[in-house]
Amino acid sequence: MPKNTLQVFCGSANPELAKRICAYLDIHLGRAEFNHFPDGEIDVKVHDDVRGCDVFIVQPTSPPVNEHLMELLILIDCLRRASADRITAVMPYFGYARQDRKAEGRVPITAKLVANLITTAGAARVLAIDLHAPQIQGFFDIPVDHLHAGKVILNHIQKLAIPNLVVVSPDVGGIKMARAYAKRLSADLAIVDKRRSGPKDVEAMHVIGEVAGRNAILVDDMISTGTSIAEAARTLRKHGAQKVYLCATHPVLCADALEKIRKAQPDATVVTDSIPLGAKAESGLFTVLSIDGLLGEAIRRIHRSESVSVLFT
Ligand code: R5P
Repeated sequence: MPKNTLQVFCGSANPELAKRICAYLDIHLGRAEFNHFPDGEIDVKVHDDVRGCDVFIVQPTSPPVNEHLMELLILIDCLRRASADRITAVMPYFGYARQDRKAEGRVPITAKLVANLITTAGAARVLAIDLHAPQIQGFFDIPVDHLHAGKVILNHIQKLAIPNLVVVSPDVGGIKMARAYAKRLSADLAIVDKRRSGPKDVEAMHVIGEVAGRNAILVDDMISTGTSIAEAARTLRKHGAQKVYLCATHPVLCADALEKIRKAQPDATVVTDSIPLGAKAESGLFTVLSIDGLLGEAIRRIHRSESVSVLFT
């Protein structure tokens, strides 16, 4: 008979979140040791018995993306060979998600490749938050539970009781997410018509919707280089918005993102702990909300074979 004991492990990408999830579940974080061979290859040793256990691995594939992805794959392989009964990859942030289609000739679909790698390594399920494109769920042939951090961010925004609110998507691709926020806040919706002039360069141009004299909340799945959201904030101000709040699930914050956000002078920047801020937290720019309860509850329900759909709304 399998033990089916719940166990949570993590790689090095976000151990703080993994510990908070374990506190929510009232269990100890599983012990896994990560080292490097002299040539840089990753070596993993698990110190707990996992035979017959229901194991969850908390690992966002945030920068350094390749290192964190390999840690996840190697840890899955290690746990599978140690006879874990079922392994769920808990990915608070799914890297490589933006390469989800062939936008031109002779380019890869890396999001699909990553899905194949995770499945081949031995994961039986995936638990993710705010995938860059929801259809990435279909890149897996194993169950994917896709949660939204909007639940956590909206609770915070509602407490701020901001009057005369308009929710703004910084680009056309983000309309669905912004509409969900607007609905929950009973606010109007607007869109910044963003045109990319390169992978790192964005020219934000027109605003579709009424923002003059309004307090605006810009919502996005991630802040990577910060170009999109900073440009959108500037555009909103140019169009007469009063206060501008930035909300994003994933603070990837690469390159000079901090500088761009600082220059955009938002009234607040709200992110989650899907990716740890580390020293960037000291910038004082961010309000960080934890998704520990959301993920902890999802893990508890998956482990008990209970519905998680109540967490989707
Ligand atoms: C765009 O498609 C995404 O939703 C984000 O707006 C974008 O990926 C953020 O990237 P960056 O911060 O580099 O502009």
